[in-house]
Amino acid sequence: VKSSGGNETGKFGHPFGYGFLHEDINNSGDGGIYAELIQNRAFQYSRSFPVSTAHYFPINGASLSIQNLSEPLSKALPASLRVGGRSSGYSTGKIGFENEGYWGIGVSQQKYTGSFWVKGAYEGSFTASLQSNLTDDVFGSVEIKSKAVDGEWVEHEFELVPEKDAPNSNNTFAVTFDAAGTKKGYLDFNLISLFPPTYKNRKNGLRVDLAEALAEMNAHFLRFPGGNMLEGLTNDTYWDWKDTLGPLKERPGFQGVWGYQQTHGLGIMEYLEWAEDMDLQIVLAVWGGLALNGDVTPKEALQPFIDDALNEIEFVAGPADSTWGAKRAALGHPEPFELNYVEVGNEDWLAGYPGGWDSYREYRFQMFHDAIKAAHPDIQVIASSATSDGGGPDKALDFSKTADAIGDYHPYRRPDELVEEFDRFDNDIGHIVGEVAATHVNGGQEPRWDGPLYSYPWWQGAVGEAISLLGYERNSDRIPGTFYAPVMKNENRFQWPITLLQYAADPKMTTRAVTWYCWSLFAHSPISHTLPTTSNSSYGPLYWVSGRDDARNGALVWKGAVYNTTNSSTVPVSVHFQGVTPGTKASLTVLTNNARNTTLGDYSYNDPYTGVNIVNTETSEVRAGASGAFKFVL
Ligand code: AHR
Repeated sequence: VKSSGGNETGKFGHPFGYGFLHEDINNSGDGGIYAELIQNRAFQYSRSFPVSTAHYFPINGASLSIQNLSEPLSKALPASLRVGGRSSGYSTGKIGFENEGYWGIGVSQQKYTGSFWVKGAYEGSFTASLQSNLTDDVFGSVEIKSKAVDGEWVEHEFELVPEKDAPNSNNTFAVTFDAAGTKKGYLDFNLISLFPPTYKNRKNGLRVDLAEALAEMNAHFLRFPGGNMLEGLTNDTYWDWKDTLGPLKERPGFQGVWGYQQTHGLGIMEYLEWAEDMDLQIVLAVWGGLALNGDVTPKEALQPFIDDALNEIEFVAGPADSTWGAKRAALGHPEPFELNYVEVGNEDWLAGYPGGWDSYREYRFQMFHDAIKAAHPDIQVIASSATSDGGGPDKALDFSKTADAIGDYHPYRRPDELVEEFDRFDNDIGHIVGEVAATHVNGGQEPRWDGPLYSYPWWQGAVGEAISLLGYERNSDRIPGTFYAPVMKNENRFQWPITLLQYAADPKMTTRAVTWYCWSLFAHSPISHTLPTTSNSSYGPLYWVSGRDDARNGALVWKGAVYNTTNSSTVPVSVHFQGVTPGTKASLTVLTNNARNTTLGDYSYNDPYTGVNIVNTETSEVRAGASGAFKFVL
């Protein structure tokens, strides 16, 4: 059998890339990779999520209330927290508030960096502490001399190093003060913030353990800011990148599309720095004129949004002396970020069907495409739909008028269906596979989305996914890469269970899913050029892709997987690279399921509550035999 594939040169100038889509779902941004520890730090609100004191609790009889002051901290943050008015029964000691964090706060002996803004005259000091929610234990605290004055918002910054680690994450962050030292008996607070050390020590940066897990996957791509999050719930509440710039007090927050208010702390600069710190190629998604409720921007009203997309591109990649490049430079990054991929909208075949999709096919995509190409001929423009079978009702985007564009395809599938993906792109135009995951088990309820997603990425799902990845990778002359989605889940915000990483406040919960190991293995063996293969067996149950990697001196790579759901037979494999002589050394890494003989068998997964990793990884040095072939068993 002569395999298809064998595309001598990838046109994208980099190896086929493994990466991820990020949007804030499952508290994967706030309460996730964005390292801020305080939940509801600035009393932000939106149409869907009213302002509240949620996640704050009074200390020593303080009364807590939301105020909308005539002189707020900023236009972006108009609500604040009034702390004072001790109720009867509490006559001594400092009053204040505590915040429970994102379902707890992990506390260890490291430097926490915090700040809060106060309005109202106060002579005295504040005490900021990290303390147990269960016992009287205070793990660390710091005194902060008041700079608070009448009629002005004053920022108080501090550092706090706990004297000991907390035994668990059931802890709070508290701020107290002496009400007797205040002029009015109360103080107004806003933007209460606390960060642990962050990934690469970025201010306003990423949570270290999650960022390290993503970086260690050796990913190549970051697609952002969604997903559904980009689209927004309505046409006037989409993820507007301009709202995410600059000091946190100028960021109004975002009416999230996944059931919670977002801070906008993880803004466009933070995404760009994330990509830079992990050396990731960016796929920047620009808003395309369609919201999740089906609001469509008519043709005659679209130009301002196209201009806005061009401004956003200039902000990311324009020179420091361009209008928007200068704003980026002012935020500390004069060097343009590398930007090769821009996607217009997200899943435009889905929301607002048929009007949303018709408008995309008829004018929206082309208008954006033409404008972006005119200004940036080298950027690869991506449509948010596939040529066919994108999973929606009618998806055949006609690429004839935008022939240099590629599509985006999102197979959330069963393992059996992902195996069928293997030759999906053998005769198609280019696409990114902008979201892919095994989400539903084989044989489940029809249609797929009427049934539940499985609890966590599981072994059989990961193997099905691996076959689809092999299929995409062997078409890498037209497919620059694949993106796992969604990427992370806080175990306390259960919306979409199938994610690469799971975690909670307690770092011990951080878990790399089964599928992380597959993606990581493939991502650690990049192929810059696929090579043709011949075989005496057809594809199935063994599937493969082969190639060489010019960045590693032409190293030869074979990647394969066995998908065998009907019996447990192993498959002998013999791989002979043309020109490789007997005795040549290779490194062989094989993943197997350690739990295949347990009750869950092929449905086993890495469970954050047990911490057991079911993926067995074995790496060995092997040598080509007398025939020049490497022989092993999968
Ligand atoms: O990844 C979860 C969602 O799935 C994304 O927001 C959307 O693009 C897709 O439908």
